[in-house]
Amino acid sequence: MPVTPPIPESVRLEAPIDQRQYLVNGELRTWDGPVSEVYSTISDAEPYAPTVLGSIPTMGEAEALDALEAAMQAYDKGKGVWPTMKVRDRIACMEKFVGQMETKRDRIVQLLMWEIGKSQPDSEKEFDRTVEYIYDTIEEYKQLDRDAAKFSRHDGVYAHIRRGPIGVVLCLGPYNYPLNETFALLIPAIIMGNTTIFKPAKHGVLLITPLLEAFQNSFPKGVVNILFGRGRAVATPIMQSGKVDVLALIGNSASANALQDQHPKSNRLRLVLGLEAKNPAIVLPDADMDLTIRECISGTLSFNGQRCTALKILYVHETVLEEFLERFTKAVDALRFGNPWDPGVSLTPLPEAAKPDYIQELIDDAVAKGAKVMNPKGGQRSANFIWPAVLYPVKPGMRVYEEEQFGPVIPVVPFTDIDQPLDEMAESNYGQQVSLFGKDINTLAPLIDTLANLVCRVNLNSSCQRGPDVYPFTGRKDSAVATLSVHDALRSFSIRTFVAFKDTPLNNETVEALVDAKLSNFISTDYIL
Ligand code: G3H
Repeated sequence: MPVTPPIPESVRLEAPIDQRQYLVNGELRTWDGPVSEVYSTISDAEPYAPTVLGSIPTMGEAEALDALEAAMQAYDKGKGVWPTMKVRDRIACMEKFVGQMETKRDRIVQLLMWEIGKSQPDSEKEFDRTVEYIYDTIEEYKQLDRDAAKFSRHDGVYAHIRRGPIGVVLCLGPYNYPLNETFALLIPAIIMGNTTIFKPAKHGVLLITPLLEAFQNSFPKGVVNILFGRGRAVATPIMQSGKVDVLALIGNSASANALQDQHPKSNRLRLVLGLEAKNPAIVLPDADMDLTIRECISGTLSFNGQRCTALKILYVHETVLEEFLERFTKAVDALRFGNPWDPGVSLTPLPEAAKPDYIQELIDDAVAKGAKVMNPKGGQRSANFIWPAVLYPVKPGMRVYEEEQFGPVIPVVPFTDIDQPLDEMAESNYGQQVSLFGKDINTLAPLIDTLANLVCRVNLNSSCQRGPDVYPFTGRKDSAVATLSVHDALRSFSIRTFVAFKDTPLNNETVEALVDAKLSNFISTDYIL
């Protein structure tokens, strides 16, 4: 049984965080309505009981519509201070924000560990990666702006082409990267001149609260509005208004579909979605087994498998199956379980209280249909964890084959003919990434050519991952809509818009005067260094 060690006093929260403030229209308003408690599954209480971390407002339609109104006023039909502001000034606001954010590192890392059970090194990495992402976004935006500081001429028509904001963005992030993934949507949306409404994820909500003041004092009123509550209660009325221009969501396709269906004007709504995946590993007969085991362990189990990029199904060639299973199961059972701050932990408590039962259902279903749990510790339970079970042989029809487990259970599928995993990937609803383990270039070449058409990133002899964040993060089918990366996110949250004029003496004189006078923030050939 995975045993959770006692919790040192040094990591405990000094007091519960009873968050009552929320940010709408530049005001930190105080909530006096109903609240919901925020729990952590991490606990050393005897008998087991989750730890209360604090509470957050349970908001509804009225507050959601207030926030929408504030975002719309800030956009002000395109006339708002923020969407028309000079790029240089928008960047200054973002720099002010990130500078303040950096001072909150310790607190946010502490809350990441408590709220979602992410290990300390990974929580620190999530914070640092997010700060770096913001600085990289600023640099990329400067480059985008420099590239646009010019006029083109074709067929007697001049054009000054830039990327402009789209309007009001509703932003919803996931619990597994409540800071990083949410900000990877929110920050580019803001910097491109959109106005935003943001609701933190269900788990990983308190860690946003140290940033409320920084959001308030860094941006003009109404540019960032932050609400608390259930997604259904808060996001649904905003979508039903038909006044949102972008739905930016990282989560699952069922919630994305439900929300987009609420919007009455589907062509107005732009979607920026990072959704679920079932990324496979394909282990070929000549795979380097040391490396394959190592990468499959981190691919399937970092953050307990709660990553959209996690390896969620392993296809292993029959000729190496025995060796793979023997070594892989040993490696899984040798991992260390503990609380996020315990040194050297790989596996940590699951933040969703119902997750161990769900994983148990997947195991029971697979076993009932002929699979075996291959590792001795597989399926062992504690109050907040279930030890990862390596299930073999897994086949279509088992729930663990079909569903995105998003947690610690590892299905292994044997194959002899490479067409089997390729056909199954083509059939699947998902198409994010794949990991391919092997060396022979004659085998790899045609496989890479096919796999690149089934997913959006083929990882050679390495596990799947989103980073480095400068690379495109996207997927086919139910795995994503639009592309994210430092560069691509700026494109996803903006639209090409331009001023065009015929090459005539009157126009040329007028535009030269416009450029010289620096009266328009849009028509500008200034270089921001
Ligand atoms: O949950 C999905 C994340 O985008 C995965 O990011 O590959 O850096 O862990 P990662």
